Amino acid sequence: VRRHFLSTANLTPRDITSLLDAAQSFRIPGKTAFHKTDKHRQRTLATLFFEDSTRTRLSFETAAHNLGCHTLDLHVMRSSMQKGETVLDTARAIQAMGVDAIAVRHQESGMAAFLAEQVECAVVNAGDGTNEHPTQALLDALTIRQHKGGFDGLRIAICGDIKHSRVARSNIHLLTTMGAKVVATGPTSLLPADAIVPLVDEMEDAVRDADVVMMLRIQKERMTSAEIPSPEDYFRRYGLTYERLKLAKPNVIVMHPGPMNRGIEIDGALADDSRYSVIQEQITNGVAARMAVLDWIWGG
Ligand code: CP
Repeated sequence: VRRHFLSTANLTPRDITSLLDAAQSFRIPGKTAFHKTDKHRQRTLATLFFEDSTRTRLSFETAAHNLGCHTLDLHVMRSSMQKGETVLDTARAIQAMGVDAIAVRHQESGMAAFLAEQVECAVVNAGDGTNEHPTQALLDALTIRQHKGGFDGLRIAICGDIKHSRVARSNIHLLTTMGAKVVATGPTSLLPADAIVPLVDEMEDAVRDADVVMMLRIQKERMTSAEIPSPEDYFRRYGLTYERLKLAKPNVIVMHPGPMNRGIEIDGALADDSRYSVIQEQITNGVAARMAVLDWIWGG
């Protein structure tokens, strides 16, 4: 069996529930630890990251090892891409070494889907441009389900740089499929023209009565100079503060995919406040979610 994992847009509620159940089964409750298996000991996962990463790359590697897999990590800056080799030729060369899956992150939207059409092994999208980051959405959903028990009717505010956020796009698909009411907010210049959820101008209107507040990183590397707000102005209008969080439900959870710009999109103390913040849990769930995805693409 070979399946790709490229997007959350084509996942059914049943797919999502099944992936979340599998991910949950890999967690050891209350611990930063996982149930390990050697079920995929014959397999090899290659990670091809053309953009920087801490969480996604290392959690794919950890997830693969937890399933008994071997891993190969391409160091792009020390690879033959520096001699002009293309992404496709690089992926084909790695596939020819007998890998069973490639997890790819690339700055171009659509790169993971393009490679999936060209190579024989499974391809997992580890983030493509401003398009999708489906494993992030899965780990976010796992974290929400652990705290809220489900999704139906939950009010989820996604705040910040929506336009450049593959995290927002994947989350919006997944969470609306599961019955959540998602609302997005951010500066007008950072809101997309093609949103499928309500957009509101004022952060306060998004956060009011929210069950979940999901903050996003300002992605300066994807912005034009006209779009880049000053950090002070941005924090004043769209930063998550204790004051703004008072508008949400009392048991609200605060999420951020990381890496964070503390003091720009979120008050640093609030990000570390375990009464609200589930940011560290998101990272732990990232390993479990990626274990579930690897198991799924290989027919588990
Ligand atoms: N959330 C996320 O994708 O983080 P990294 O860029 O560190 O992988």
